[in-house]
Amino acid sequence: MARRVMVVGGGGREHALVRHLAASPRNPEIFALPGNPGTRALARNLPGDPLDRNQVLAACREHAIDLVLIGPEDPLIAGLADHLRHAGIAVFGPGHLGARLEGDKEFAKDVLATAGIPTPSYHAFSTLDAALRHLATMTMPCVVKACGAAQGKGVAVCDAKSEAAAHLRLCLEDRAFGDAGARVLIEECLFGRELSVLVVTDGQDYALLAPSRDHKRVGEGGTGGNTGGMGAFAPVPLTAELCRRIDTEIVAPLLAELVRRDIPYRGVLYAGLMLTDTGPQVLEFNCRFGDPETQVVLPLMDCDFLELVQTTATGRLADYLQGLPDAETGGPDGWPGRGLTDWRRGAVVVVAASRGYPGPYQTGRPLELPADEPAAWVIHAGTGERDGRLVTAGGRVVGCVGEGADLATARSRAYALLDRVRCDNLFHRRDIALDAERTTA
Ligand SMILES: Nc1ncnc2c1ncn2[C@@H]1O[C@H](COP(=O)(O)OP(=O)(O)O)[C@@H](O)[C@H]1O
Ligand SMILES: [Mg+2]
Repeated sequence: MARRVMVVGGGGREHALVRHLAASPRNPEIFALPGNPGTRALARNLPGDPLDRNQVLAACREHAIDLVLIGPEDPLIAGLADHLRHAGIAVFGPGHLGARLEGDKEFAKDVLATAGIPTPSYHAFSTLDAALRHLATMTMPCVVKACGAAQGKGVAVCDAKSEAAAHLRLCLEDRAFGDAGARVLIEECLFGRELSVLVVTDGQDYALLAPSRDHKRVGEGGTGGNTGGMGAFAPVPLTAELCRRIDTEIVAPLLAELVRRDIPYRGVLYAGLMLTDTGPQVLEFNCRFGDPETQVVLPLMDCDFLELVQTTATGRLADYLQGLPDAETGGPDGWPGRGLTDWRRGAVVVVAASRGYPGPYQTGRPLELPADEPAAWVIHAGTGERDGRLVTAGGRVVGCVGEGADLATARSRAYALLDRVRCDNLFHRRDIALDAERTTA
């Protein structure tokens, strides 16, 4: 069993990953590259750029790392997992072929189509003329998407053709997203509630973690601009029938299609779904843990997270799943990975962000954080240090996590902790997980 584990990345997701690895009874030695002031309490932070594959490999060699968990998408899309595996290191995270599901939305659509998985209809374009001609024939609303990874800014849900045309120009003419916007999808707009499903797979077996939901818009009631996520909660209460459809209509055919295409996948596959009147449909795939969904899904795990990561990275997930209790508390009958996460409990994260985010904001403002408690703790996302003191260093600064016997308890714990964060330049949404208890059919 791995004893020396590295988490690549330095945001809130990576702090949460480090935290839950550190809780393993196997007492692993944990490293974070580059980590953040939050990971420093539990891991050794190593300097380095996750996008510099040789630097990451050199750090692994220097510290005799035997297991690497890659947090963010960019290094995965660039093939960091392949590079480390080639050097004999066990990696949790797909190689560049699997990461293309996130890095190339047109490729993801092709996989979805061949696997017969429900997803909005679309057309792809690489010239503005052709895209505008198609737009003229469409009824609104529609969704315009840069095909490549654009740091969450490549998608515009458009009510008017003028808006859609402006986003097309931004991608194809201004090249605001560089090569990521060199091809564009114009997609049918769906209506419903969104759901994040994290699938852990080693390419043969798979398990689903408790479903979660994040709050993307900056303003209360889902208003204002899109952000990286202002909060999240898990589990999202779902009917057994909907769980069954998510598994049989989406997850199982997707993994079978990856096998058919000879695309190896060891890590987590995140399916971003829209729950429509006629059933669940796929909006997108991510090739890594969600941020901030990870912050609320991992606290629901009763089992050793390190062992899950290790068995997945080494292709032995089946062994791990066999040892799981078939707990009634871990999702409906037949849910793959039942028992992995406890659906009776609840976890909520509320993000405190710098004023102005997702627009321009100041950093370097003094920050004082409350101490962690057994059922509520602070996750660092954009913090830094100056003269030995904690300061703000990003848009999303910290996430306050609460857990409890139900979502309402978890929610009040998260907000009570957030009340004790001291900083003169932060804001947060007060409605995170507010209607969480409403079951989605
Ligand atoms: N076809 C669609 N219909 C309605 N809303 C959509 C559609 N596609 C995307 N969205 C909205 O836009 C958000 C971002 O789109 P997504 O495909 O997840 O791209 P990314 O996360 O790479 O920016 C989604 O979370 C969803 O709210
Ligand atoms: Mg998304």
